[in-house]
Amino acid sequence: MSRVILVTGAGGAAGQAVVRRFTDLGDTVIAVDRSGAHGCLALDLLDRPAVQGLANRIADEHGRVDGVVHLVGGWRGAPSFAETDLADWDFLHDALIRTLQHVSLAFEPLLRRSDNGRFVIVSARAAQRPSQRDAAYAAAKAAAEAWALAFADALQDTRSAAVILVVTALVHDAMRAAEPGRSFERHTDVNDLAVAITDLWDREPGAVNGRRIDLTPAGSAR
Ligand SMILES: NC(=O)c1ccc[n+]([C@@H]2O[C@H](COP(=O)([O-])OP(=O)(O)OC[C@H]3O[C@@H](n4cnc5c(N)ncnc54)[C@H](OP(=O)(O)O)[C@@H]3O)[C@@H](O)[C@H]2O)c1
Repeated sequence: MSRVILVTGAGGAAGQAVVRRFTDLGDTVIAVDRSGAHGCLALDLLDRPAVQGLANRIADEHGRVDGVVHLVGGWRGAPSFAETDLADWDFLHDALIRTLQHVSLAFEPLLRRSDNGRFVIVSARAAQRPSQRDAAYAAAKAAAEAWALAFADALQDTRSAAVILVVTALVHDAMRAAEPGRSFERHTDVNDLAVAITDLWDREPGAVNGRRIDLTPAGSAR
């Protein structure tokens, strides 16, 4: 049976690869981003009533949700710890934490009811190994991970799972074309990320719930 999948932040390179993968597998995909680019539904995930409205609409139209893949990103850095601009924290809080809170709270009841549901975020190695140049980013990703783990705890007695996939950085074809000499050895290709996401349904929810799964290519510097 085809799955009903929501992809939030679907307009980025990772989002497009993930939407393509689910679509190729015959699933029903609802793709959302802020601007409505690349065939996505335009919706600001910082607008909590709008996110709740989306959950209600999907419940009415499809009767269920089998997966939510939350891919909203954003990055800010600083030359040094002392030069961190706390305006960057405000931006990252909204992009990486608040959108996640809105989406997970709105879709929790549907995932709780699913008989094989997954909730997925993509985190960064920086969350556990921050450098002085990415204090705000690493702290925001660490907070997003803690939120996802709390959601996993809430799903323990269900047939759904909340999972954290970890990358060092992502790469896609346009990046490779722009820098043909670069190896991108520590980067995870967005198409490999998409396969890793759909593969999560091949494992029992209890086997992946609350797991951090690192997708940094094997053999690259750890
Ligand atoms: N790229 C990397 O190297 C890297 C490294 C580690 C982790 N990750 C994580 O991997 C995931 C995918 O990364 P990415 O680089 O593909 O992400 P991205 O391009 O930074 O963001 C993806 C999408 O999020 C949408 N978005 C942002 N704010 C939104 C809002 N308020 N409401 C609705 N949509 C919103 C954007 O839509 P608009 O363009 O319309 O604003 C964009 O299409 C993210 O969670 C990111 O944190 C990425």
